[in-house]
Amino acid sequence: MTTPPNSAAQGYTVLDHADPVLADSPRRAFAEEVLVGLSERPKRLPSKYFYDDAGSRLFQDITELDAYYPTRCEREIFQAHHADLLDRFRRAPFNLIDLGAGDGRKTAVLLEYLIEKGADVRYVPIDISEEAMRIAVDAVGQRFPTLPISGLVADYFDGLRWLAHQTDRRNLVLFLGSNIGNFDKPRARAFLRRLWNALNPADRVLIGFDLKKDIEALLLAYNDPQGVTERFNLNLLERINRELGGTFNPDKFRFFSTYNVFSGAMESYLVSLVDQRVYIEALSQDFHFAPWEPIHTEYSYKYLDHDITDLAQFTRFAVEARWYDAQGWFCDALWRVEKG
Ligand code: AVI
Repeated sequence: MTTPPNSAAQGYTVLDHADPVLADSPRRAFAEEVLVGLSERPKRLPSKYFYDDAGSRLFQDITELDAYYPTRCEREIFQAHHADLLDRFRRAPFNLIDLGAGDGRKTAVLLEYLIEKGADVRYVPIDISEEAMRIAVDAVGQRFPTLPISGLVADYFDGLRWLAHQTDRRNLVLFLGSNIGNFDKPRARAFLRRLWNALNPADRVLIGFDLKKDIEALLLAYNDPQGVTERFNLNLLERINRELGGTFNPDKFRFFSTYNVFSGAMESYLVSLVDQRVYIEALSQDFHFAPWEPIHTEYSYKYLDHDITDLAQFTRFAVEARWYDAQGWFCDALWRVEKG
């Protein structure tokens, strides 16, 4: 807390995040977003809250499922095209910044090549889950003992604020795995404008876009027969129970995920199976769910090639290169900032 001089009797107080009143702020922010989301019609919960430690582990399991193709497709792109991508950077010192890194396995193909070529690279994974970060730093550190690694546990936006200060070397920012798809169109544009603002003209961004494809493949990827995606969604209710003193009974909800051809998004929901009330201690109130009432939990937008071009132009980037997997299901696009 900062107290301006001479303000004992009159004046004001500037609360900063070290103040005990705000120390609890991530939990408060979560509680407030749950309050706002469950007070809406239709109800919704933001998908960013999927990723506590348990949720990050479940997401890792999803990426290993046969049905969930995006991770496999992107790995194939890296295996086929890493030299074309990295030869543009490796001759001068640079930071490889991995936004939403997860366990860092996706980037191992890139790091291996950079180390083999003796590149002066610093690996900077950024992830909201501390457990995922510990696993990433340990795993990448063990595999590449000479690689400088500076992990950052932060959300995307704090990560971008940090990035704005990294001006000593070039930055290649990775935003992989179709993470962009979890933003609706206005949020994707806002995020990319903020990213643009944090970058210098020499920097580049590599963005992983999941492409529009056979609807059956999409439905299978988000409704896996093993039920891991269902558990991943239900973990959100369990997280509310754990962190906010909620009384959700996950057995009284079912997971449902469908493709909206018009908006181009997989849409995921948890649907109440019965008439029920759920109390949330941190909010000192209960919420009513009618039978078959949905809670929207996630959008996963799919792109066409021209959507990628339009999005880049709108946010003042230019597409420098695009790489695809053999099936044409996924695209990694390298973007350059257009400044001045
Ligand atoms: C992290 N994100 C890109 C994943 C996706 O495909 O939208 C999260 C996910 N949801 C269900 N399965 C995977």
